[in-house]
Amino acid sequence: MSYPTIESTIGNTPLILLPRIGGEEAKRRNNLILGKLEGNNPAGSVKDRAAFSMITRAEARGQIKPGDTLIEATSGNTGIALAMVAAMRGYKMILLMPENLSEERRQSMAAYGAKIVLTPKSGGMEYARDLAEQMQKNGEGLILDQFANPDNPLAHYETTGPEIWRDTKGSITHFVSAMGTTGTIMGVAQYLKEQNAQVQIVGAQPEEGSSIPGIRKWPEAYLPKIFDRSRVDQIESVSQADAENMARKLAVTEGVFCGISAAGACEVAVRLSHQLENATIVFIVCDRGDRYLSTGVFPA
Ligand SMILES: Cc1ncc(COP(=O)(O)O)c(C=O)c1O
Repeated sequence: MSYPTIESTIGNTPLILLPRIGGEEAKRRNNLILGKLEGNNPAGSVKDRAAFSMITRAEARGQIKPGDTLIEATSGNTGIALAMVAAMRGYKMILLMPENLSEERRQSMAAYGAKIVLTPKSGGMEYARDLAEQMQKNGEGLILDQFANPDNPLAHYETTGPEIWRDTKGSITHFVSAMGTTGTIMGVAQYLKEQNAQVQIVGAQPEEGSSIPGIRKWPEAYLPKIFDRSRVDQIESVSQADAENMARKLAVTEGVFCGISAAGACEVAVRLSHQLENATIVFIVCDRGDRYLSTGVFPA
């Protein structure tokens, strides 16, 4: 008798129909809105795929071996995912993150045994990334660098994209993803465009002045190296207020309790469903709402 390990529970997440969120307008136009529930991954987000891919592929190439120390600057979900995979595979994990990110994220990383280094809020993710570089230079460990590591989008090219194609039986017309490292949108876009060049790839980003955890409107100098603008057909901006309202609405109208960036992607999917006809729109539900309880977005 052989049993699966926790590793085998990464990926193959459900793709579900959201019959109500687009309202009468989406129905009248014969559009379908589908969400891919990445919060069903074992460490709770889409990032489990990238973390597993980056660590196992580096190990397979002989770049790292169990017992080594890994370093990463992360806005949250990647840190939790890397901490889980490091625990599974026997690595030490040091995570750098701005001090203003949510308490439950920090505690989740610590639960998996990671060491956490908090950086000043004023420096944002840029400061955390620069400090990680410095630590690597000092020989304190190896940076996987989710922003530049091709194994991040490769995870989505090899798993997320094919799962969406399979589960929609090739009928997807629009793919929407919030953009952080852009690993998800890059990998899925590459796969879907290879199957059908007509599939439209739509990125969601916070509008100027809005803050949505996990995603950014990157300044030019900090644009992720894995990002290739030519793979994205359209970029839509979402306000923090619209994303938060959508997060609450998704929970009460569809029973889908998700994070703010996921709700931002849903907001874009709903906008599309009010413009298109006969469309099958898939968006990524990056993580679950309970990861945001301390932020007050879901008041009791
Ligand atoms: C909550 C959340 N949403 C969206 C994303 C974006 O995913 P990606 O980095 O693949 O662009 C992230 C990435 O860290 C995230 O943590």
